[in-house]
Amino acid sequence: MLRPPPRRRISLPQPPKSQNLSWAEGRVTREDRRALLGHAAATLWFTGMSGSGKSTLAHALEHELLRRGVSAYVLDGDRLRQGLNANLGFSREDRSENIRRVGEVAKLFTDAGQLVLAAFISPYRVDRAAVREIFDPGDFIEVFVDCPLETCEERDVKGLYRRARAGEVSEFTGVSAPYEPPERPEIVVRTHENALEPCVDQLLDELVDRGIIEGSRGRAPGALTRR
Ligand code: ADX
Repeated sequence: MLRPPPRRRISLPQPPKSQNLSWAEGRVTREDRRALLGHAAATLWFTGMSGSGKSTLAHALEHELLRRGVSAYVLDGDRLRQGLNANLGFSREDRSENIRRVGEVAKLFTDAGQLVLAAFISPYRVDRAAVREIFDPGDFIEVFVDCPLETCEERDVKGLYRRARAGEVSEFTGVSAPYEPPERPEIVVRTHENALEPCVDQLLDELVDRGIIEGSRGRAPGALTRR
């Protein structure tokens, strides 16, 4: 007998087009994967404005996690929008679809035993809530990368704020499109008050406290090449 998928479908924006689908149960459990890899899986969902430091944090954390023997992987907006989501822009609807697809990808990676570091502006609460909803409780950890707009704009790493103010980039988050900060994120990281390393340490501590990774350093320093 085929059982329905172990997920709550109620809040998904769209049910499958076809009614003629089934869910084949595999023989491998999450526990099997955890035992193989030596750590739990989860998705850390970094939300915050462009320039707040989401991707920088995610990549620094990914590097440190791999150094400790934890299989982590970064999914980020600029990257996924050049492939899977290349047909999406920055309208309300396209951002929503971007986050829906990425949420599904993050869930698959999490099911595969990975520690996913998903870095997306994801400006709308309802879109983030819909992603949270497809995860099992505890598998989705919302990280608010809290940084004032003025600081993001001062940094302007990609020069997009300047172009948005000049009217060359439309619907730019913080300038001509909204950002809705999380009301109850699991973790808040303040990148304008703390340097990168303390922020990474904060996230590592949170992962240890949640029993996702072990506290001790699994590998000798230098096990990975620095880039
Ligand atoms: S989201 O709003 O749909 O979550 P996402 O994180 O995928 O956005 O992509 C954001 C990145 O796209 C930004 O870091 C920036 O480099 C680029 N970008 C290009 N146009 C815009 C825009 N109008 N608003 C925000 N980011 C933009």
